[in-house]
Amino acid sequence: MTETVFSEPQVFRDIATLQQHLTEVRQEGRKVALVPTMGALHEGHLALVRKALKEAQEVVVTIFVNPKQFGPNEDLASYPRDEETDLKALGKLGKVTVFIPGVEEMYPGDFSTFVDEAQLSKGLCGVSRPQFFRGVLTIVGKLFNIVRPDIAIFGQKDAQQAAVIQKMVRDLHFGVEIITLPTVREEDGLAMSSRNQYLSKAQREEAQALSKSLFEAKEMVEQGVRSTDRVIAEVTHLLAQHRRVRLIYAQVIDTETLEPCREIVPGQSLLALAAWVDQVRLIDNIRL
Ligand code: PAJ
Repeated sequence: MTETVFSEPQVFRDIATLQQHLTEVRQEGRKVALVPTMGALHEGHLALVRKALKEAQEVVVTIFVNPKQFGPNEDLASYPRDEETDLKALGKLGKVTVFIPGVEEMYPGDFSTFVDEAQLSKGLCGVSRPQFFRGVLTIVGKLFNIVRPDIAIFGQKDAQQAAVIQKMVRDLHFGVEIITLPTVREEDGLAMSSRNQYLSKAQREEAQALSKSLFEAKEMVEQGVRSTDRVIAEVTHLLAQHRRVRLIYAQVIDTETLEPCREIVPGQSLLALAAWVDQVRLIDNIRL
C-alpha cells in the first residue's frame, strides 16, 4: 500500500526572498513552472499543479486573492480563504514552492500601472465584469515578471482568461509557454470552482443545470446540428426551467479568437456561458 507523503511546502510571503530562492533554482538549471491561483484549492487547481510537477523541476504555486480583479459589488470580502488546508493539499502532491503575498506586497500604496487587453477581453465576461481582465492581466503579468517561469499553467474552465493571457504573452513578449488543461468536474458535471462553496444544497442542485445544458448542446452538435441560434435557444430554454438560474450570457465562439460564430465548427467552436445561481456567479464552457 502506498502511503500519502506529506512534505511541507516552502512558503514565501515577500517578493525579494522568493526571487533569491528562484535565482538559486535557475543557477542549478531547473525548469520553473508557475500555477497562479486565488486559493481555496480544489481538484481543478490540483490537476494544474500535478501537470506542473511533471513538466518542471521547480513548481511555484501562488495564492493571492487579487483585489484588482473584483468589481466594487463583487465577492472580494467573502471569497473563501483557507491557507492551512491549501498548504496540506499541496504538500501531498510533491515538492512545491508557494508564494502567498499580502495585498501591500503586490500593490503598494503608490501602485499605478495596469495591463489592459483591448480586444478579446471586452466580450463575454468583459461585458458584465468590465474591470476583471485588467485586474487578471495586471496580476498575472506581475507574477510572470516576479517568477520568470518557463511555463505557466491555466484551466480551460476560464477559457476567456486563458485566451486573454495567451494574447498578453504574445503582444508583450513575456516569453512564457502557456499550457491550458481541461476543466475538472464534480461527479454530476458541475465545473469545480472555489465559488461552489457559496452554494446551498438547493442552489447546488440548480447549478447542475449549467453543465447539463452544455452537455445537451454538445449532444445536438454530435447529432449534426450546426446552427448556433438553435443551440443557444435550447440552452436558454433549459436554463429558464430553473428558477434560481439567471443566464448572463451564452455564446458560441471560436476557441482561439473568441469571435462569435453563426455556424458551429466541430472541434473549433466553444460554447461559453455565465449565469447567476441566486447571488452566486458561475461560468462554464464546452468545446463543441
Ligand atoms: P482561480 O479561480 O483560483 O483559478 C486558478 C486556476 O485554476 C486558473 O487557471 C483556473 O482556470 C484553474 N481552474 C479553476 N477551476 C478549474 C477546474 N474546474 N478545472 C480546471 N482548472 C480550473 O483564475 C484565477 O484564480 C485568477 O483569475 C488568477 C489567474 C489566479 C489571477 O488572479
